[in-house]
Amino acid sequence: MKQNCYILGIESSCDDTAAAVINNGHILSNVVATQKIHEEYGGVVPELASRAHQKNIVPVVHQALRKANIDKKDLKAIAFTRGPGLMGALLVGTSFSKSLALGLGIPLIDVNHMQAHILAHFIKADGQTTPSFPFLALTISGGHTQIVKVTNYFEMEVIGQTIDDAVGEAFDKSAKILGLPYPGGPLIDKYAKDGNPKAYPFTKPKVGPLDFSFSGLKTAVLYFIERETAKNPNFVAENRADICASLQFTIVDYLMDKLKNAVKATGITEIAIGGGVSANSGIRKALSDAETSYGWKTHVPNFEYCTDNAAMIAIVGQLKYEEGQFAKSDVVASARLKF
Ligand code: KG4
Ligand code: ZN
Repeated sequence: MKQNCYILGIESSCDDTAAAVINNGHILSNVVATQKIHEEYGGVVPELASRAHQKNIVPVVHQALRKANIDKKDLKAIAFTRGPGLMGALLVGTSFSKSLALGLGIPLIDVNHMQAHILAHFIKADGQTTPSFPFLALTISGGHTQIVKVTNYFEMEVIGQTIDDAVGEAFDKSAKILGLPYPGGPLIDKYAKDGNPKAYPFTKPKVGPLDFSFSGLKTAVLYFIERETAKNPNFVAENRADICASLQFTIVDYLMDKLKNAVKATGITEIAIGGGVSANSGIRKALSDAETSYGWKTHVPNFEYCTDNAAMIAIVGQLKYEEGQFAKSDVVASARLKF
């Protein structure tokens, strides 16, 4: 039997304060405190996020240790999100992790948040399948939209990305135009279930074959809603499901077009998705259909590992621990950290 190797993961890059404990690939606890404060502002307010992280981090870590039924002295290492993300938010998790690791005399492991969204697939859990190398990862979140060629755990190459907004922003900003609270992505998904995806055709933005662009879509939605509301003030309320379904259909179709281009360019047919938007039911269905239509092998993470969480930080911590990749004690947070 493998020896216990408890690693604590800490995530604080945006508006979720999260902590998780992993033991040999199995998640023992996965605690997330989502900051409600941003809802009324229609987006994340960085200063408020930092303050909420400061308030939440100690209780969240305590809870993660308690749920895992271990003491902090049992930990072998602490993994934390170094970046990319909001600087003030990252600083809270970074300083906390550094002090705790120092206090306990155990190694510190720095984690790239976007790599973690991809490596979340290596968490051992019911309902999750593990991709084999090489595979293509579509990382879709509120801050990023990328296609990454993954050759090994830490050999990743971004082969396509957004030239403006991220796909999560396209969901959230469109939702805001429809009068929905932040983050609107999950609500668009919910209303889309009862709507006709072909009701309102939105044009898919034209950029390079592996690039993405979403700012035009947001503007198109704004003009469309303004035009229709001028004719009928109740247009949104009366047609919410059809608008959401059409919008989601356009976005998902666009993401699938890009994946098809990436498969063509690389010859790789094994696909994994990650990031908050991979919780979307439209993209989940499109990927599962692609297994039969195109013969791809696709991997979709469990819901709790899609949106920001610390379990994904903990798995990267474990993979790096096994390879002896530790952070130096003077490591600093990096808002624009690259792979
Ligand atoms: O990865 P994540 O939790 O945080 C970032 O790193 O950005 O992603 C958050 C994004 C938000 O834009 C949110 O609206 C979107 O993921 N999202 C969804 C769904 N669930 C979360 N978008 C569409 N459909 C969903 N079901
Ligand atoms: Zn994320």
